[in-house]
Amino acid sequence: MQKKELLYEGKAKKLFLTDDDNLIISEFKDDLTAFNGEKKSSESGKGALNNKISTELFKLLEANGIPTHFVEMLDDNHMLHKKVDVILIEVIVRNIATGSLSRNLGIEDGRVLPFTLVEFDYKNDELGDPKLNDQHALILELVEHQDELDKLRRMARQVNDILKPYFAQKGLNLVDFKLEFGKDSTGNIILVDEISPDNCRFWDIESGEKMDKDRFRQGLGGLTVAYKEVLNRILGK
Ligand code: C5P
Repeated sequence: MQKKELLYEGKAKKLFLTDDDNLIISEFKDDLTAFNGEKKSSESGKGALNNKISTELFKLLEANGIPTHFVEMLDDNHMLHKKVDVILIEVIVRNIATGSLSRNLGIEDGRVLPFTLVEFDYKNDELGDPKLNDQHALILELVEHQDELDKLRRMARQVNDILKPYFAQKGLNLVDFKLEFGKDSTGNIILVDEISPDNCRFWDIESGEKMDKDRFRQGLGGLTVAYKEVLNRILGK
């Protein structure tokens, strides 16, 4: 499958049309952004690592009954996937408090939450991805019915129920992550985008070391070394 016209360029990926109207090719870029694009950099090899990690995780989720847009990894930086209508809601799942949850609500960084928290953010860079409640999402017509919001929450919890124990076995705490969903050509809600250390937080269970994009956000260095370690643990190396 060959890339045709550029459909969209995001912060971490370029999306290309293909000969098949139902299929898209994503090119995973080495670019890094944080704080809604205010901090920018690039790390050679980052895009390929995220493509490989996402590929493994989409396969794992599909095998466990979660429908995703994944079709196949084409090469180091390219993934073939289904074309969807993206739902403009970022679904955030949290097991441990950190990041904006600790900043906004004063919950101690590192506190294990008494239950898994699922939040919605409006996927809108101009507005800085503000928090949404269900009524906001319905007023904005981001989905058609409340049932769809319930489904997003249910699917996000199912993803967490699969990934949290999977990463624990590999010595990583799955602290929090962001998911995106879309509707496929038949109107089914499926998981889209990527699942990688760019949009998940992983803390090494033994050392507490951060193995995700917080290395860039917090200027800790060693980003690709950490992403490579996440991939190696997924591959059982
Ligand atoms: O910044 P915050 O603490 O809200 O992030 C929660 C989780 O969602 C983190 O894993 C972060 O990487 C992810 N996230 C993301 N894209 C955003 C906002 C958050 O991938 N726009």
